[in-house]
Amino acid sequence: MADPTTTDHLTARDALGVADDRTRLYWDARHRQRDDLASGGHIGLDRPGNEIFYAVRLGALLTLIGDLSNPSAPLFVLDAGCGKGHFARALARCGHRVDAFDTSPAAIAHARAEGGGPRYAEASLTDWRSPWPYDVVLCVDVLFHVLDDSQWSAGLRNLASLVRATGRLIVADSDGRARSPLGDYIVHRPTAAYRRELEPLGLRHTLFKPYGFRENPLGFHVFTRIR
Ligand SMILES: C[S@@+](CC[C@H](N)C(=O)[O-])C[C@H]1O[C@@H](n2cnc3c(N)ncnc32)[C@H](O)[C@@H]1O
Repeated sequence: MADPTTTDHLTARDALGVADDRTRLYWDARHRQRDDLASGGHIGLDRPGNEIFYAVRLGALLTLIGDLSNPSAPLFVLDAGCGKGHFARALARCGHRVDAFDTSPAAIAHARAEGGGPRYAEASLTDWRSPWPYDVVLCVDVLFHVLDDSQWSAGLRNLASLVRATGRLIVADSDGRARSPLGDYIVHRPTAAYRRELEPLGLRHTLFKPYGFRENPLGFHVFTRIR
């Protein structure tokens, strides 16, 4: 039997499937082993550090989404790659109607047990479908963990298809000029790569808002549907 820890015996397509499985296994194990903040937040921070990291980013997100909520016309928000649901729950508390999904069964089980309003599903960036378009599609610290460029592109394009006219797609990455792999589970893509995928689909890059957390170089790219 072939050694399951190598990909030497596999075709490129098979190897992609193995890489996907490894990513899923990595995140599911991390969600089982780490607490609710370190599992989806910054693994190098202690709990108070992660509390601040999440709070600062939630504040930044709310300035992007807007500070109004209307009980009779809530915003429809999708949190793609929601982890244990920290942002999904916070946005539901702010009066928005939230769908959220992640590939990790452990993360989704935790999120469902927490409750708080969002509707959760196990799904991936490429296969989530919705009967309605969203006002805001959010994808925090997920896309740069998708190592394969074709999977990244397919996931990003699927998210774009879910944004309503004048709605926004908010994705987290750096604001760099080059494709930069970091360690063995991160690839930051240049802003130009996001624009190349999204602008032909009718989404204009309207803003990059840095997280503003210590020296962290990442931030939120906002794309707005103009057609
Ligand atoms: C760094 S965590 C961020 C979680 C959450 N967005 C947060 O900020 O708390 C990355 C998450 O992306 C999920 N993920 C990775 N690849 C995915 C994919 N292709 N589709 C959906 N979720 C994915 C992982 O399971 C993990 O929960």
